Amino acid sequence: MEKKNHLKDDTFLQHPILILLVLVLGLVIMDPFQMGPVGGLEFRPVKHNIAPYKQVMKNWPRDNQSRLGLGKLEFEGEVFGPESLEFDHLGRGPYTGLADGRIVRWMGKDVGWETFALVTSNWSEKLCAKGNESTTKKQWKVEKRCGRPLGLRFDKESGKLYIADAYYGILVVGSEGGVATPLATHVHGKPILFANDLDIHTNGSIFFTDTREATGRLLRYDPPTKTTHVVLDGLAFPNGVQISRDHTFLLFTETTNCRLMKYWLEGPKTGHVEPIANLPGFPDNVRINENGQFWVAIDCCRTPIQEILSHNPWIRSVYFRLPIRMSFLARLMGMKMYTVISLFNEMGEVVEVLEDRKGVVMKLVSEVREVKGKLWIGTVAHNHIATLPYP
Ligand SMILES: *[C@@H]1O[C@H](CO)[C@@H](O)[C@H](O)[C@H]1NC(C)=O
Ligand SMILES: *[C@@H]1O[C@H](CO)[C@@H](O)[C@H](O)[C@H]1NC(C)=O
Ligand SMILES: *[C@@H]1O[C@H](CO)[C@@H](O)[C@H](O)[C@H]1NC(C)=O
Ligand SMILES: *[C@@H]1O[C@H](CO)[C@@H](O)[C@H](O)[C@H]1NC(C)=O
Repeated sequence: MEKKNHLKDDTFLQHPILILLVLVLGLVIMDPFQMGPVGGLEFRPVKHNIAPYKQVMKNWPRDNQSRLGLGKLEFEGEVFGPESLEFDHLGRGPYTGLADGRIVRWMGKDVGWETFALVTSNWSEKLCAKGNESTTKKQWKVEKRCGRPLGLRFDKESGKLYIADAYYGILVVGSEGGVATPLATHVHGKPILFANDLDIHTNGSIFFTDTREATGRLLRYDPPTKTTHVVLDGLAFPNGVQISRDHTFLLFTETTNCRLMKYWLEGPKTGHVEPIANLPGFPDNVRINENGQFWVAIDCCRTPIQEILSHNPWIRSVYFRLPIRMSFLARLMGMKMYTVISLFNEMGEVVEVLEDRKGVVMKLVSEVREVKGKLWIGTVAHNHIATLPYP
């Protein structure tokens, strides 16, 4: 944080009424109650157990060269809100889920992007596919019908693709693609509200997040019994999930608590959950690299204003209904939004931080995949994929 910013924020903080005004203005301008991924969900804001901003920033390594800003935007206007990026066992891809409900894959320059799978037989070109107008912002009206595939994972052994869809739950589709088959849509007789991301255990069980503001859950689907179980409850916007290389634990992000959590699957701490890293902003997906380290996509940054939000649930309840246009609101409120991606080891220690401080290239990041010397970066809010040579 630069000094200047601090001053600005501090002054702003002395006028909570201003915050309120800005929020009300934002509401009027943006008509938010009909939009956004959490718009239709049950919403019960609570106070959060969030680490103090200054404490987090004091120890957070900065990327003074703003290396993420050197990334290249690819497939502009060809992919719409590609949140998760996946590659099949032949190395083809990326595969990604779009705001128009399709899962598409890149088949090289000659073929281009092709539709690989759909999450519902209700999908139709007329209703769902609006070309480069299919932005996350514009599709919300039809998402419920068309689907909104978010997390993607191939099962390396079977070659099947598992999908977490915000509206249709957990589904699976064979390596030849087509309309996916639902696996988990309910738990204990109640519908899963917002399946967001998933990972596959070597024993076949699928761990996935059901995103809600304060009553979010980590769930598990067991294929042998075709049953879904609640693993953890009462989470704050649980989002990305990634099982460790040795399968002794998994990591998941709590977006609105700005932290990375570890849940033990094996060993003396089995069943325990603990925060392992406090982050400077709002994390989305977590993905493992070949060294067993974890890339986390983070939308930055927390500011003193955000702390006010987290201690005033009613303000926050308004604020977080605006996930897509949050950056706009944030700008009104004097927050500078930018993006950070960070690599963690198994203990939650920071190994690498790449920033795009000016938000030139990456305006909102959802997932980072490291594949053969290259980072692939997805974004739920924009129509492109970013790439960056790494290391
Ligand atoms: C980045 O800049 C900050 C302050 O400007 C400094 O404290 C820090 O050591 C620098 N980091 C690196 C890796 O050069
Ligand atoms: C969107 O598509 C239209 C027609 O296919 C094209 O003229 C326009 O340039 C495209 N816009 C972007 C931003 O790709
Ligand atoms: C198709 O949409 C209708 C109406 O929204 C819904 O009731 C039905 O379950 C959907 N069918 C499938 C296969 O998703
Ligand atoms: C797979 O392992 C996980 C973690 O130990 C466990 O919770 C789950 O029940 C196992 N699934 C099956 C099908 O045995």
